[in-house]
Amino acid sequence: MSHTKKVMKIKLYEKWANVYDENLKIPSYQELINNVISEVDPKDNERILDVGIGTGIISLEILHKADCNLIGIDISPDMVQSLLKKCKTLGKTIDVQIGSVLNLDSKVDNLDKIVASLALHHLSGTEKYEALQMLYNRLNNNGKIIIAELDVKDENSVDRLKKLIEIKSFSAIEAYGYAGSKLAEFELEMLLKIFKKDGEYPIGKNVWCDLLNKACFKDVNVVYENKNTGYFIVSASK
Ligand SMILES: C[S@@+](CC[C@H](N)C(=O)[O-])C[C@H]1O[C@@H](n2cnc3c(N)ncnc32)[C@H](O)[C@@H]1O
Repeated sequence: MSHTKKVMKIKLYEKWANVYDENLKIPSYQELINNVISEVDPKDNERILDVGIGTGIISLEILHKADCNLIGIDISPDMVQSLLKKCKTLGKTIDVQIGSVLNLDSKVDNLDKIVASLALHHLSGTEKYEALQMLYNRLNNNGKIIIAELDVKDENSVDRLKKLIEIKSFSAIEAYGYAGSKLAEFELEMLLKIFKKDGEYPIGKNVWCDLLNKACFKDVNVVYENKNTGYFIVSASK
């Protein structure tokens, strides 16, 4: 990743870190998170990596359900700062690293589960496959990966643009109704960034399945999808 791109991604979340948790007021986001957690199905003592942990919405919910060893990685110091504040208040411990999943510390190994919620689309073209290959190597046999993403076909076509405008308008209107204009603005900024391929590179759910298969994962399945928001979850195992 070039230095300029890395700085752009950090700057994006610097702007949104303090309002990000407002997402929890939005029904379709809550629905996604609930489905991610039920797919993770955390058990005591499991070693779980949360890729793009952000403000810790997923990880803190996991810790609420089971006594796991949680490791998080995120490229944005601002998102991580917000997470660490919450951990302190709630008395929870997460081993958080600031950096890119592409440069994951070699000690982050022997994982039972990996969850990546709305994070991997920030990786461009070949970086996605590179990340999946590396994550595969860090999983224990029969370990599971759960990826939540936005279903947008990776081609320049009128259909892609129409779908993109449709799903992001739905999300912006929903955000406006439940969480206010700031988050609606966030959704519209995402729309523009996806369109301009500026730090946001979502791809189709079938492409994610192909990449997982290519990276040698088995039992690759789309386990959830919401046609209005474009959110989907794919799970796979090693
Ligand atoms: C949309 S937020 C999702 C946060 C959280 N996973 C959730 O579901 O609420 C995406 C997160 O991915 C992080 N991110 C982006 N690129 C990354 C990378 N290369 N490595 C690790 N984290 C990254 C961003 O900083 C941001 O916190």
